[in-house]
Amino acid sequence: MSALEKIGLTALRRIDPETAHGLALKALNTGLGPRSGPVTSDRLKTTLAGIALANPVGLAAGFDKNATALHALAKTGFGFLEVGAATPRAQPGNPKPRLFRLTDDQAAINRFGFNNDGMDAIADRLSARPQGAVIGLNLGANKDSADKAADFATVLTRCGPVVDFATVNVSSPNTEKLRDLQGKAALAGLLAGVMEARAGLAKPIPIFLKIAPDLSSDEIAEVAEVANASAIDAIIATNTTLDREGLHGPHKTEMGGLSGQPLFEKSTRVLAQLAGLTTLPIIGVGGVSNADQAYQKIRAGASAVQLYTALVYGGISLAGDIAQGLDDLLTRDGFANVADAVGSSRSDWT
Ligand code: FNR
Repeated sequence: MSALEKIGLTALRRIDPETAHGLALKALNTGLGPRSGPVTSDRLKTTLAGIALANPVGLAAGFDKNATALHALAKTGFGFLEVGAATPRAQPGNPKPRLFRLTDDQAAINRFGFNNDGMDAIADRLSARPQGAVIGLNLGANKDSADKAADFATVLTRCGPVVDFATVNVSSPNTEKLRDLQGKAALAGLLAGVMEARAGLAKPIPIFLKIAPDLSSDEIAEVAEVANASAIDAIIATNTTLDREGLHGPHKTEMGGLSGQPLFEKSTRVLAQLAGLTTLPIIGVGGVSNADQAYQKIRAGASAVQLYTALVYGGISLAGDIAQGLDDLLTRDGFANVADAVGSSRSDWT
């Protein structure tokens, strides 16, 4: 981390987290951030659901909800970016405050509730996206939608032509009844609608499914069964958790989804279990804050990883540091590339 980034982070941590996040995006857009682009090497290059990545370290959904910092983010070390969630219509989300830092736990709790500018504004920004970057969109449903399942297909139809992949997010804890869509019948129906929307695109894109970490083993097995029977291309494991075990911070009782360090183990176990139930690629998310944790997720069965909360504590330069560190770890252990390491220690996590 540069001295400037350190000073910036210290200042941002003194103000309200949502305001701080807005300022961080502005700072990025004024050129204050890494500018050398994705870290890459023959060892780090990989393919995810048919998409070529410079490295397997991605930005998780929620950081750039409205696709307002794409050009700056494309110059950081990330190998791929996921923006959104986008819903059909713009909506304000839940009342503030709705984002809390749990510094002692290196964690965050959010209950944003899909605040976003809506699919039209987001599609316009994505249509002016930086060339060469890999950019996906997290699909969401409006809070007051009469047919939440249909919202995913609506956003895909509108934004599909300007992204490289799209994620069906049925795992946010902050939209009432959204997680119910992870049930077997509901999920199968929803995915069928999304697949139909994809087939209608001039250029069909890979579709990912993002799941919650709070599913039981049986529920994970059901999700895997539905995912295997559908034509989706990858699973993202996981979103934030409702679990509050072992927290220290003053905000630990706030409602919403918990992310960051306390989620690492739980989300890695879910991904390892899933990896035994499907041959679909898995993107491991939850508590990744250094190269070793990214490597652990890959060895547990992830083909790529994403992160968000660690950036609050470690700054955006963490992306490149993690990718570089991952290269060193692969070299140390004699792996020729990322793909060779995927799942190599899965049994440690099941
Ligand atoms: C999120 N996350 C999220 N996920 C998603 O699928 N759609 C979204 O809109 C959001 N929004 C969002 C906002 C905020 C403030 C946070 C902290 C997180 C979840 C995120 O993508 C990721 O799955 C989890 O945060 C776990 O990863 P980390 O943060 O522990 O690296």
